[in-house]
Amino acid sequence: MSSNVLVIGSEGQIGTELCLELEKRDDIVLYRADIRLLTNSERRLYRLDATDQRSIKQLIRELQIDEVYLMAALLSAKGEENPKLAWELNMNSLLHLLDLAKEGLYKKLFWPSSIAVFGPDSPKVDTPQNTTINPSTVYGISKRSGEFWCNYYFNKYGVDVRSIRYPGLISHATEPGGGTTDYSVAIIRAAIGTRNYTCYLKGNTILPMLFMPDAIKATLAIMDAPKESITIRTSYNLGGFETSPELMARSIRRFIPDFEINYSIDFRQDIADSWPQSINDENAIMDWGFESEYDLDRTVEAMIKALG
Ligand SMILES: NC(=O)c1ccc[n+]([C@@H]2O[C@H](COP(=O)([O-])OP(=O)(O)OC[C@H]3O[C@@H](n4cnc5c(N)ncnc54)[C@H](O)[C@@H]3O)[C@@H](O)[C@H]2O)c1
Repeated sequence: MSSNVLVIGSEGQIGTELCLELEKRDDIVLYRADIRLLTNSERRLYRLDATDQRSIKQLIRELQIDEVYLMAALLSAKGEENPKLAWELNMNSLLHLLDLAKEGLYKKLFWPSSIAVFGPDSPKVDTPQNTTINPSTVYGISKRSGEFWCNYYFNKYGVDVRSIRYPGLISHATEPGGGTTDYSVAIIRAAIGTRNYTCYLKGNTILPMLFMPDAIKATLAIMDAPKESITIRTSYNLGGFETSPELMARSIRRFIPDFEINYSIDFRQDIADSWPQSINDENAIMDWGFESEYDLDRTVEAMIKALG
């Protein structure tokens, strides 16, 4: 029997590629929703405001949705520019969806958290699943609070909500949406174009990253896993590879030897400095078999091939 799946925030960096994968499955009928509609004349694409609970409820009921992926959010850099909006969108959309699952309107929810939950007091290297977590951005605060709400709704009402703390995601299908790790995509686009990039983070700023195909594979793996194997109902750590602007530039020069990088540091440096450099994701490996295929060099090569 097929499932009806709704992706909210379907036009964004992750939503776009998640939908491409979900569309390949013949046991799924895919519906998409976003506040801005970019894809022209697509079937099953709805304009929806994720903060409008009545409209979400109506859509889920009308389409008889079984599973929801909630990808609408304001990301770290944009969130710092508009903290109240970040809180309102990131929290209210999640609480609406949790309530609708509690009412039995649909069966399963995926909600992404982020490595932004970690703060300056968390260990920087091989950051464990459970450790000191004092986020310093409104984005991180909203994600950490969201994780606790997910755990609460699972324990109290049995809501089957699953979550991953994504690291920075590198992809080519859609422009990133205003996060601190956006440079990792912009640097490759600039290298192919002008051969010159001015980076807003210092060259030696190490952060964990993941190439989008690995992120999508992980997202589908956690959603496909049997309920009993999901032992963490806040959110799972997910690593990938560690990189920095300098390391990315070096990897890019394997293909574009005259590529130059300059620096003009802005407020995103403080955000990056508060985040881990590498993540311990042994729980994701153990519980639902997370495995990444792409390291830095393979990611850069695939990005240059796709964009070049
Ligand atoms: N991209 C990353 O590197 C990254 C890393 C960690 C976590 N995440 C999380 O993954 C999720 C998706 O991120 P993304 O990178 O695809 O973000 P994005 O900004 O690229 O996409 C978000 C989408 O949500 C839509 N949206 C915004 N407000 C909306 C509203 N009120 N109602 C409906 N839709 C609305 C936007 O139009 C956009 O298409 C977010 O929760 C984000 O915090 C992303």
